[in-house]
Parts: sequence; structure tokens; C-alpha cells
Amino acid sequence: MEISITKRQRAFINSPAFETLYGGAAGGGKSYGQLVDAMLFALEYPKSKQIIFRRTFPELEKSIIRVSRELYPRKIYKYNTSMHTGTFKNGSIIDFAYCDREADVYKYQSAEYDVIRFDELTHFTEEMYLYLISRCRGANGYPKRIKSTTNPGGVGHFWVKSRFIDIGAPDTVHDCGETDRIFIPAVVSDNKFLMEKDPDYIKRLENLGERDKKALLYGDWDLTEGRYFTEWDKTVHVIKPFILPPSWNRYITLDYGLDMLAAYKIAVDEKNRAYVISELYTGKDNGGTGLIVSEAAAAVKKLIGGDIIKSTYAPPDLWNKQKDTGKSIAELFYENGVKLTRVSNERTAGWLNLREWLKVYPDETGKSCADLRIFDNCINLIRTLPALQYDPDNPDDCMRDPHELTHAPDAIRYFVSGRPQKTKPVQKPPVYNFKIERPKPDPGGFGDKIKLI
Ligand SMILES: Nc1ncnc2c1ncn2[C@@H]1O[C@H](COP(=O)(O)OP(=O)(O)OP(=O)(O)O)[C@@H](O)[C@H]1O
Ligand SMILES: [Mg+2]
Repeated sequence: MEISITKRQRAFINSPAFETLYGGAAGGGKSYGQLVDAMLFALEYPKSKQIIFRRTFPELEKSIIRVSRELYPRKIYKYNTSMHTGTFKNGSIIDFAYCDREADVYKYQSAEYDVIRFDELTHFTEEMYLYLISRCRGANGYPKRIKSTTNPGGVGHFWVKSRFIDIGAPDTVHDCGETDRIFIPAVVSDNKFLMEKDPDYIKRLENLGERDKKALLYGDWDLTEGRYFTEWDKTVHVIKPFILPPSWNRYITLDYGLDMLAAYKIAVDEKNRAYVISELYTGKDNGGTGLIVSEAAAAVKKLIGGDIIKSTYAPPDLWNKQKDTGKSIAELFYENGVKLTRVSNERTAGWLNLREWLKVYPDETGKSCADLRIFDNCINLIRTLPALQYDPDNPDDCMRDPHELTHAPDAIRYFVSGRPQKTKPVQKPPVYNFKIERPKPDPGGFGDKIKLI
């Protein structure tokens, strides 16, 4: 059997780094490269163990599993549909896995793999990635590798960019302290196989909207105009918890729905600077479930602890009368001991106001500061607020999808709706000057041939 690979696929396969990202334009041959690499590793290292992740099972099944079953020779490879495991004749295995919710990572708590692979890495959160890569270990002496492929964009765009692209020149192994990493860029013209079979593919990519075109056709990582809160600067907005003076006012702000509750305790100092100090978060994306009102109210009371709360802000839809009880959710909260204060749910005004709270400016000592800062224990807010993306159909607003990403920012928006902030001049515009150097299209086409004997 003979498998042809492109030059970029060869670079991915031969990568000497612990963490490799092969990323860029759609159709560059990334997923295929991932599968060829997995097979070569499996054949070279008998009884080796690998796992390939996609974020959801339907995506996994439609892409990676399907292609692997076509690509891997039946003489040496068997796929077990119920276990989602492929086994090679030499005893090597490849698990095909997904990780839909944050809590899914714990399914792999005691697992050990030689190579851990992610297809479409930007669909994963950084927390998932960091947890899962800790499963890469074993005493068999085989190389240990994390190998990922992805397009730019997606919920994980920014952490992937800072982990792999912002570290320096592409196609170069960078020593990043605890690990070494390399970014191997892919452009669609790398993939002569696709160009030959489907020459109109590029034309279809050209018809995409500007942002998708940049990401999918050019594999461009510089999509900063996509991030909704360009003010976001983790080094300023996320702070270590400290003991608060009792004199500072405390507030609760919350968003509540059938399948989620996001509530925050916020303290405000004498200068009207707010500190988000603790978080109560349950939703699909962190493996949580919805709570009935009495449970939600009990959880909010626990969040309040012994503090005196000035107001508990909530959106107006909680005042709608429920068909079954004839009462509103706000009334039910009240009956369970939590009095809510209704604030506006006007999105554009609310987001604009939140921008004011997030603006970075020098404080009295010259240090960068913002009027809203978040204690580092509020992990879901820190994860989802910077992940909000511009809505291409309404530049004043952010995307409402993925829906799970909006709960925590919405809750904070209700807080600022209750407490509008005066406008301030921008002191420090965010600097995003990174540009990747795209590799020259490969005029020769096919890179190498791999022979399997
Ligand atoms: N070495 C190869 N030999 C034959 N066909 C290939 C090769 N590499 C890629 N292809 C084919 O090119 C097409 C695109 O490849 P692939 O799906 O791997 O690209 P991708 O970069 O993962 O795309 P996307 O960004 O859409 O996920 C597929 O039909 C795949 O089978
Ligand atoms: Mg792919």
C-alpha cells in the first residue's frame, strides 16, 4: 500500500516537539495528516496507545472515524464500533473520543496515552486541553506527543493563538518552559489532492463572509476584530483574591433559566471600582444541570454567605408570569428568601456600558487598572467573557451562540445595567500586531510518498 502525503503533512508527521499544532486554511489536509500520522505511530510502536478527540460525537463519527475506516487497511486494522476503538495487528490502539462538556474530561481520569490528538483544537476550551494532555504519559519508552489540527476561529481561538502562534515564528520549535511547541501553518493550496478533485473548492471559500474567508481560506489567525471585548486583558482584569474591607458594598447579579444559573457576588470600593469576588455557575458547558427555583434560591443564599447585599440584579423576563403557577420566577425567588431587583435587558446599551467598566487605565500609582476586575476563582466568567465574538449581522452586539458562553457575561451585564459607569477616554488600546508569515504555495505539489509494507 502506498499513501501520498503533502509536504506540510510530512512536517506534521515528523514534528519533534512535544506539542504540535498543524493549523490554518480549511481543506489543507490537516485531519487526513492527523490520521496518517496516527497510523504510522501505531505501526512503528507496537502496543502503543493513542487517542483522537473531536469536541462532539457526531463530528467525530462523520469526519475522523469515517475517514480512518476508509484509509486504514482492513488487513491490519479493525474498528470496534461500540467501544470507538481501533486496533492494529501489532496490538496498538487508537481510541476515538469526544469531550462535549467540561466535565467529560474526567472520563479520562485514569487513562494513559503515548499520543493525544485533537482535531479542530479551537473547538475545545483551554481547561479541557490542559486536563487532557496530562493523560500523556507511560513507562514504555515510546515518544510522548500532543498533536493537534485546527482552523482558526471557534471558541478556543484566542487561547490556541496565544499557546501556539504568538510564541514566535512558525515551523520552529519553541522552548516554552515546561513544554516545547511548534506551529505548522497550512494553506489550502498545500493540498494538491483536493485542488485536483475539486477545483471549485477555493471559489466556494471566496464567497464566504470576510471573517470566515480570512480564517478558512487564508488560515489567518489575526481575527482580533472578532473578539467582542477588545478591552479584555487577562493580566489586568483577572486578579488574585484579597480580603475585602467590610465597608465595601456588596451586590449579587444573576441570570437564571431552565438549564442554567450564573450568579456573581460583586464588591464595590469607595472609588466605584468593582470586584467580582465569587461565582455560582451551573450549566451544560460545565457539566451542570438546571435548578428549580427553590434550589436556585438556596444556592444564591449560600453565595451571599454572611454578607449584607445592597441589591440582587436580575433580567426582566424573570418577572413574566408562569402559566402553571400564575406566579413569576421573581415572586418564587422572593418566597424562597431572595429579593430580586429588576434591571434592563437592553443589550447594546448594556454591553457598551460593560466596555466602560473594562477599559484599562493607569491607576494613582501608574499601574494598569480597570473598574471591573475579577477574582481568579470565577473561572467560568474568565473563560466565557473574552470568548464572546462580534455578531457579523449586528456589529453593536455579540453572537448569542454558542448559547452556553453567554450566561456569565449576561449576568455581569445586568450588574452594569443597574450601575451605569461614566465614560472614560481610552488610555491603552489593546495591541494585536501579530501577523503570520504564510508559507509560499508549494508549486511542486505532492511532497512525499509513504510506503507500507
Ligand atoms: N495526502 C492525501 N492524499 C489524498 N487525499 C488527501 C490527502 N490529504 C488530504 N486529502 C483529501 O483532501 C480533502 C481535505 O483534507 P482534510 O479533510 O484532511 O483537510 P482539513 O485541513 O482537515 O480540512 P478542514 O479544515 O475542513 O477540517 C479530503 O477529502 C482528504 O481526503
Ligand atoms: Mg479537518
